[in-house]
Amino acid sequence: MSVEASDPSEPQPGPGPVLLSAEQLKVRVAELGQEIGRDYAGRTPLLVAVLKGAFVFLADLVRTIPIPHEIDFMAVSSYGAATRSSGIVRIVKDLDIDLEDRHVLIVEDIVDSGLTLAYLRRMLAARNPASLDVCALLARASIPPMDRASLRYVGFSIPDDWVVGYGLDVAERWRDLPDLRVWTGPT
Ligand code: IMP
Ligand code: MG
Repeated sequence: MSVEASDPSEPQPGPGPVLLSAEQLKVRVAELGQEIGRDYAGRTPLLVAVLKGAFVFLADLVRTIPIPHEIDFMAVSSYGAATRSSGIVRIVKDLDIDLEDRHVLIVEDIVDSGLTLAYLRRMLAARNPASLDVCALLARASIPPMDRASLRYVGFSIPDDWVVGYGLDVAERWRDLPDLRVWTGPT
């Protein structure tokens, strides 16, 4: 078996400074869970998480929501460049649960351009839910106020830097980091 030694002079890009610590994330996620519990009391909301980025957020969020609720998953992939959304979205995995007359809350990791979410909203609205809202852990501070106003729950507004950790990746890596870090290498 031959092993190739990696060139030690080659720069190893990695996650940079902490933008949000595990503790900050935990506190804010718990606040969101309490708020959702109050707002949806008596209604058994259906949380729809968008894979893969939202999986860590969803797992923490559901354990802070003090009322009965259900979850389902959807996976989408956007065409075009790896790190910039094209707005043309393909469903890779559809939901199992029927949305008719349900109170649906889309759970997203980050609203960047908002194109993925705009597409999802249109598609899910066509399935006649009783209500359709969005809970995003992160939203770019740069998104237009009108788009921001359409997000019912937002954990944090963040700058335009690419971030990794807490479910978010670069090229499928670093999702496991417990805090959210600014990515300093190439995307
Ligand atoms: P949008 O359609 O431009 O809003 O892109 C949304 C999706 O792009 C998110 O759900 C993420 O999967 C991904 N994304 C956008 N910004 C970042 C980032 O900084 N780190 C990791 N993924 C990101
Ligand atoms: Mg995503």
